[in-house]
Parts: sequence; C-alpha cells; structure tokens
Amino acid sequence: MGKSKRSRKVMLETSTEEANALACDLIKSIICDSVGERKVCYLALAGGTTPHSMYQQLAASCASSDVPWDEVEVFFGDERDVPQDHVESNYRMAQRTLLDHVPIQPSRVHPMPADSDDLPAAAAEYERIIRRIIASPSDRTPVFDLILLGMGGDGHVASLFPGTEALNEREKLVTVYFVPVLGRNRMTFTLPLINAARNVLLLITGGDKAEAVVGLLGGEPEAAQRLPVAHVAPEGQFFIILDAAAARRAGLKPK
Ligand code: 6PG
Repeated sequence: MGKSKRSRKVMLETSTEEANALACDLIKSIICDSVGERKVCYLALAGGTTPHSMYQQLAASCASSDVPWDEVEVFFGDERDVPQDHVESNYRMAQRTLLDHVPIQPSRVHPMPADSDDLPAAAAEYERIIRRIIASPSDRTPVFDLILLGMGGDGHVASLFPGTEALNEREKLVTVYFVPVLGRNRMTFTLPLINAARNVLLLITGGDKAEAVVGLLGGEPEAAQRLPVAHVAPEGQFFIILDAAAARRAGLKPK
C-alpha cells in the first residue's frame, strides 16, 4: 500500500453538510495557495452524486470570497460514455452545480471526450492536453494541484474499478476501457497521474460507503489491497473527509 500514509489526513464531520463545508474550505485554500505560488491551479473534478451538493456549497461560498477562479484550469478525473449534455455526464453535473456559478474562463474547462467514436484516440488526446497545459519535463508526470475523488461502495475511485486492468496501468495517464460491472465504457485518470498530485481530496459521505471505509482505514491489509482506493498514495498530501454515516463501521466518531 501507499507511501503516502505518512501524509494522509483523515477528517471526520457529523453531517454531510459539515463534511462538504470542510471540503469547500480546503478546495478554496488550495486554489488560493496554488495561484499565489504558481499563478495557476490545476484542478481535476470528481463525478458521481457525492460532489453534487458539495459543488453547490462551494459555488455559494465563492460568491462572497475572492477565490481566483479565472486562474484555474479544470479537468475531469473520469467520465461516462455519454454526450456532455446527458443527465449522466459528470461534466454536465459539474457545470450546473459549480462551473456555471463561478467566474471561470470557459477555455480553461476541459471536458473528457468519453463518448467519442474512437475512445482510445480520445483518451490519448486528453492525456496530450493535460501534458500540454500542465507543463512538465517530458519524462515527468504532470502534477495536478488538486485532484478531487469520490469512492464507490466497492472501493472504486475515479473509474478505476476492482479487479480491472486499468488499475495496473503504469504508462498511460488517461485510459478508457469496458467496465464489466457497469456494462459500459469509462474514461479515467490512472494511478500514476492521481499519485503524482500535490493534493488529493477524497470526500466520502453516506452509509453505503461504510464497509469500504473499514477497508480503507485499517481493515485487513490483504483485503484492502483489493480496494482501488487503497492504491491512492499521492506524492503530496492525501486528505480524506468523511461524514459520520460513512465512518460509523470504522469505529470513528466526530469530536
Ligand atoms: C463517477 C465517479 C466515481 C464516483 C464514485 C462515487 O463518475 O461515478 O467519478 O468515481 O466518485 O462512484 O459515486 P457516488 O458519489 O455517486 O457515490
């Protein structure tokens, strides 16, 4: 398991709203620090349902603060094989809950083309876009300032599902593959890209994640290895924010 355990910070709040608020504060502070230090913030958004209310809270709290959204480059950590205006699209969800409500430059938002006719070419092109925008020496993995992740009840993160080859990818930064448990294609960041990040924030809320949280936060090491989330081990800081419902079986209680 990952070397980042030393810089892993687990934070527990009672309610989903409080967990969201903590996530919002952290996101705003990382954006401000990144822009302050490097004049830009490279941010990858998560999809699924968990971030929906958090993005709404983030947009609302940004209305009265000076978050430099115009210096943020927004990417997506994974995407479903649907058009951008489809109800299942992560891009559409992020746009409606967050991106439409903050002063971000549209040219700095980079949706994943996960409904392309040529998915492998589209994934390779998305990787090229990341490499072009996040300048780094050609032999180095681009470093995101912040990658947001959620976790499925089976321990998947981004679209890295248990037992799939995508988890073993070491060359490509973005891959696309058929996910048997969904019967659908997914495009996703791979572990090398996620683990190169300066900050990763994993937000887990809701009781349906409680079992996977046990594995993540101290279950049997062998069983934990089967959880994709257990392979998230960023070079930088790894923040895990939970609400009480998600943490209840792991024996954690809010202060
Ligand atoms: C997606 C994701 C995925 C998500 C988890 C949790 O596109 O679905 O990005 O990794 O974060 O599946 O999903 P929920 O938040 O819906 O529980």
